[in-house]
Amino acid sequence: MKLDEFLRLNVRDDLARLTTAISQAGLTVWENIPLQSGVLTAVNPSGETQKAIDVYSNDEFTEAILATGTVAEVASEETAEPATGKGSLSVGMDPLDGSSNVETNNPLGSIFGVYSRKLPCSGRNLLGALYLTYGSMVTLTLSFGKGVHRFVALRQGPETSFELMGIDLKIPERPEVYGVGGSRKDWIPPVRGFVDSLEERGLRTRYCGTFVGDYNQVLARGGMFAYPQLTSKPRGKLRVLYETAPMAFINEQAGGYASDGRRNILDIEPDALSGTSPAYMGSASLVRELEALVSKAD
Ligand code: F6P
Repeated sequence: MKLDEFLRLNVRDDLARLTTAISQAGLTVWENIPLQSGVLTAVNPSGETQKAIDVYSNDEFTEAILATGTVAEVASEETAEPATGKGSLSVGMDPLDGSSNVETNNPLGSIFGVYSRKLPCSGRNLLGALYLTYGSMVTLTLSFGKGVHRFVALRQGPETSFELMGIDLKIPERPEVYGVGGSRKDWIPPVRGFVDSLEERGLRTRYCGTFVGDYNQVLARGGMFAYPQLTSKPRGKLRVLYETAPMAFINEQAGGYASDGRRNILDIEPDALSGTSPAYMGSASLVRELEALVSKAD
């Protein structure tokens, strides 16, 4: 089944139009990664390397989203002020997650939260969330509150369309992998102890350094992704509106749980557009166990 048909049958019109626009802009962004990031040894006339992909992806997605006429504001990790439009929805996005991994050809991604209220607000106001992964395949994973569904970009002749790849995805019962950001020496003690216990339970470490890539394997194999509270960064690194709340929404729809160590990430009221929090997400039982350890250590 094609994305457009799925959206027509399952998603209200404004959200469907937004999703189509994001999926098309995602293909353009993906095609432009080599051109806009300096991997073709692009140099300016002075011989300096150029890397414009962050700005490029921000502009592509913003333009495509605003052109749908459904959105009042697009807030982005790449800009200080939201771009404004004439619709009623709010979008918070990380237009190119993991862009520092371009040179090593690790997976990259794009994350979008669709909120019903003006930003900043909590993830409880999310109507839906989507993420694109640019890995061995380009995939679009989405939820509008009725399960998590995945589409893959398929080129047939001159046309590329998104075809249904997985319906109602759920995190598997038996956890297999975990990935934790930052440096081990900087993790707070409960996180260090918990990671040791995951090793003892036979989980394997898998960490590529791009949030969507690392989360995606947790969704497929079960386990936990964390960008934890660090001794040097008590509020973590990942941005709530643009990254962790949208992914927490999807994670919950897949049967998982996401916490900042003390509460559900969806309950965080960010005090600024780019407010951050520690993030632990994946298999519900593991994350609740770690949450109990972190809160007890307070
Ligand atoms: O958003 C920033 C980001 O690139 C995430 O995609 C990723 O999870 C994290 O930073 C990696 O950070 P670190 O290199 O500190 O582990």
